[in-house]
Amino acid sequence: MEIKKAIIPVAGLGTRFLPLSKVLSKEFIPLADKPVIQYIVEEVQKSGIKEIVFVVSPGQKAILSYFKKSPDLEKLLTKRKKDSVLKELKDFQEKFKDMEFSFVLQKEPGGDGHAIAQASKMAGKDPVAVSFGDDIIDSDQPAIEQLVEIFKTCNAPVVCLKAIPREKIPAYGSVVVEKIASRLYKIKKIIEKPEPSQISSDLVIVGKYVLTPDVFGYLKKAKPSKKGEIILAEVFDKMLNEGKTIYGYEIKGEWLECGDKQKWLKSFFYMALKDPRFGEE
Ligand code: UTP
Repeated sequence: MEIKKAIIPVAGLGTRFLPLSKVLSKEFIPLADKPVIQYIVEEVQKSGIKEIVFVVSPGQKAILSYFKKSPDLEKLLTKRKKDSVLKELKDFQEKFKDMEFSFVLQKEPGGDGHAIAQASKMAGKDPVAVSFGDDIIDSDQPAIEQLVEIFKTCNAPVVCLKAIPREKIPAYGSVVVEKIASRLYKIKKIIEKPEPSQISSDLVIVGKYVLTPDVFGYLKKAKPSKKGEIILAEVFDKMLNEGKTIYGYEIKGEWLECGDKQKWLKSFFYMALKDPRFGEE
């Protein structure tokens, strides 16, 4: 089954970027000269998906403006003969001209699962790709395409996984797995921020998924946790407890995390050093 849509939730509070995130959502912080959200959109686009639904907070409706044409600016740059920046702007706009962008609103930051549930009408009865707004995979084959390929063979939700050093796992969502093929696993249990004694694999969850309609069913029925949030990982765990199958795929590529200041800086320098325009300097 083809996957035609991707959901990108960007309505989180981004508290780890305060005070910057009071005025700028973390998805617009750049790696080198490009905002994180653009890498994520390009990853979806390169995976062959043309429709993107952003889940935004009430203050973020302007996100679509970033990817839209700016005719007034073009006119002004033409008049002022700013040829090179005009070309840069036009090349950028050209890149996204075949994409269809829309948004749904998450009125309150009720958790990543709650955010995704807001887009359930847009997803309809089809499976969809989901990418969080702060996880980039730098790879030859785009990450979402890798996950979609797995989905096509197993027809169940697919979660993106990555192996990291054991000592770092307690800060992540860890998984108990059964290996079924190279890089492919059946997920048995998800443990958010595990104690060292609970860790049974090197794999943790990256914020990229293929979700099936039944996940949306569970998300809609889910009750908020003690913190008042609906968390996708907890909903997956409930599905697993009820005997549903969820696959995990160990993604190929470099994981560039952008969820907190230190990770973002690391990812920033990775991209800046790699870029022939900036790297050497
Ligand atoms: P995070 O777990 O990184 O949370 O969200 P956050 O709120 O953005 O950041 P911190 O923890 O306060 O620093 C993972 C993804 O889910 C989205 C975020 O925008 C991010 O892309 N999200 C999270 C929502 O869209 N809504 C929410 O209520 C929570």
